[in-house]
Amino acid sequence: MNIGIVGATGLVGKALIHELEKFPHALRLFHSGCSSETNSSGRRIDPIDRLQEGALDVVFFATPPQVSAEWIPTLLEKTSAFIVDGSSAFRQKDHVPLVIPEINGSLITSTTRQVSSPNCTTTLALMALAPLHRYAYLESFTLNSYQAASGAGRDGVRMLTEQYAAWSRGESIPIDTVFHRPLLFNAIPQIGGFNASGNTEEEEKVLQESRKILNLPQLLTFSTCVRIPALQCHSLSISATFKKPISVQEAYDLLKQTSGVKVYGDNLYPDVYSANSNSYCHVGRIRTNPTVPNTLSFWVVGNQILKGAATNMRQILDYKLKTLAD
Ligand SMILES: NC(=O)c1ccc[n+]([C@@H]2O[C@H](COP(=O)([O-])OP(=O)(O)OC[C@H]3O[C@@H](n4cnc5c(N)ncnc54)[C@H](OP(=O)(O)O)[C@@H]3O)[C@@H](O)[C@H]2O)c1
Repeated sequence: MNIGIVGATGLVGKALIHELEKFPHALRLFHSGCSSETNSSGRRIDPIDRLQEGALDVVFFATPPQVSAEWIPTLLEKTSAFIVDGSSAFRQKDHVPLVIPEINGSLITSTTRQVSSPNCTTTLALMALAPLHRYAYLESFTLNSYQAASGAGRDGVRMLTEQYAAWSRGESIPIDTVFHRPLLFNAIPQIGGFNASGNTEEEEKVLQESRKILNLPQLLTFSTCVRIPALQCHSLSISATFKKPISVQEAYDLLKQTSGVKVYGDNLYPDVYSANSNSYCHVGRIRTNPTVPNTLSFWVVGNQILKGAATNMRQILDYKLKTLAD
């Protein structure tokens, strides 16, 4: 099988190369053609203009949404490739399944040509919420996130490390063109632009994508997404209200049985170091929240580049291959 990765020089693209290395696939890598990087892990990287030359069976897009929006329709029309898009370009299109395989992988069939992988914060939240929803019926949730610099791609990481280097040398912290304020030693309650209701793009994605993935058009969410100076992994504080009562022990037991989730009891809890080098969604500090009936609160941490993007995208391909084999 010939697999292409577009955006192979970025954080998600590089993680995807690693995810796919275990499999005997022929990988072809692409980038904008503008950056100076022309090889990754010893592999050649071609400019995106050459995408249609190779007879690719599968193409992963780990690119900004405008690049996915420009190239995916052409590929669908001119080739027979199966396409997995990590960007937001097509996530809200009715004809494009938005898939977390553990939750709604059955939307992928043998004839599906294009699948979108969800927003990273939404993916981590729903990995914990979906098993509880199946038991107790989710009505609403509030989410406060503490999101790493790498959520803004390699420029976000570069910006934070440059700020730290400048501070270490005793220099003033450079003006930040990615986060628009110094991220170092800061917490910035804005990820993406604001809409008319005062919510940011990231907060709106949590609402819209949760509704689509859980197939709950009436679901209410209220989020405050905050960028913090962690390098990798997003942490989330979630309070979820259910139709049915659900106890802490029941939630613990349900999450313990859930593939892809690691749950912590007895006042133990995960942090960035628990999640940094694996694809689990880590859940701890499950408590009854007495301020609203039938409400549980918990703490979630996950590697947003792995389960929030590259691992989820590779799992989408695994699911597709399974439908073809069945
Ligand atoms: N980072 C995360 O935590 C995360 C999580 C979930 C989803 N996502 C989504 O995944 C996508 C990639 O994110 P990232 O963090 O990997 O970004 P990134 O580190 O900034 O990498 C962007 C990649 O896109 C390529 N690219 C940019 N413009 C291009 C063009 N005109 N034609 C072809 N390739 C182009 C870049 O290639 P060059 O080297 O040539 O510039 C680079 O390989 C984005 O849509 C993002 O929203 C990211």
